[in-house]
Amino acid sequence: MNSGRPGPPFFSIRGLEKSFSGKPVLKGVTLDVEEGETLVVLGASGVGKTVLLRHLNGLLHPDRGEVWVRGVRLNDLDEDRMAEVRKNVGMVFQLGGLFDSLTVYENVAFPLREHTAWSEREISERVNEMLAAVELEGSQKLYPAELSGGMRKRAALARTLALKPSAVLYDEPTAALDPLATRKINLLIRGLQKRLGFTSVVVTHDLKSAFVVGDRFALLDDGKVSFLGNREAVRRAGDGLMREFVDAAQ
Ligand SMILES: Nc1ncnc2c1ncn2[C@@H]1O[C@H](COP(=O)(O)OP(=O)(O)OP(=O)(O)O)[C@@H](O)[C@H]1O
Ligand SMILES: [Mg+2]
Repeated sequence: MNSGRPGPPFFSIRGLEKSFSGKPVLKGVTLDVEEGETLVVLGASGVGKTVLLRHLNGLLHPDRGEVWVRGVRLNDLDEDRMAEVRKNVGMVFQLGGLFDSLTVYENVAFPLREHTAWSEREISERVNEMLAAVELEGSQKLYPAELSGGMRKRAALARTLALKPSAVLYDEPTAALDPLATRKINLLIRGLQKRLGFTSVVVTHDLKSAFVVGDRFALLDDGKVSFLGNREAVRRAGDGLMREFVDAAQ
């Protein structure tokens, strides 16, 4: 992925600044995510990881700076064109975001009903394919309240993947899971990524998970990217916050 001259990046973030009520959160983030890679965004709680992620599919708009998705500048898009981008850039929310009143089957079918004119049979085929991919075949009829945390995360993942997006944004996919469920989700993310070949951005503060899923690693600190590199560069990090992250994860 890092060999030779790669094509244009999938995501390109240039000088991104964002404040809330006068309090700066992002102070000039510049970062590329290459086509097909999995980039992990690390950083302390509250540093702005979710805020950064939400700019990549236009859920938030920059105060200053630019966000490009496959050569399209998001800053100027109207809601219709933004909806097209969102179809192509799926997001798995920090809290899963499943609809409580819908079964697992209906949750995964939801984006297909919204965005396609498929027959019930086509929808059912895709839903079953996705539920099999996340190992939830037997859970079609369950409601989110009847699922464990790990199952909920997998159902949310199946829903995001149902439209076969070109990129997937994950916000803390393993937060609040036990070590075994964490491992299972990480291997699933890695496996699906390799099999389906989409571009991924994974936000986490867990370096162990990061190492399972990631190709490259960016550390967000004080509103900027303070470290960017591959696994080897992370391991070799000298002084500074990246080193502290690595040491804390030992
Ligand atoms: N919609 C919003 N309105 C006001 N402030 C916000 C909004 N979204 C985020 N913030 C603020 O931006 C800062 C960064 O929040 P963010 O959710 O990105 O942190 P994070 O790095 O994802 O943290 P965590 O690891 O706990 O999820 C916080 O101070 C938060 O209060
Ligand atoms: Mg967050």
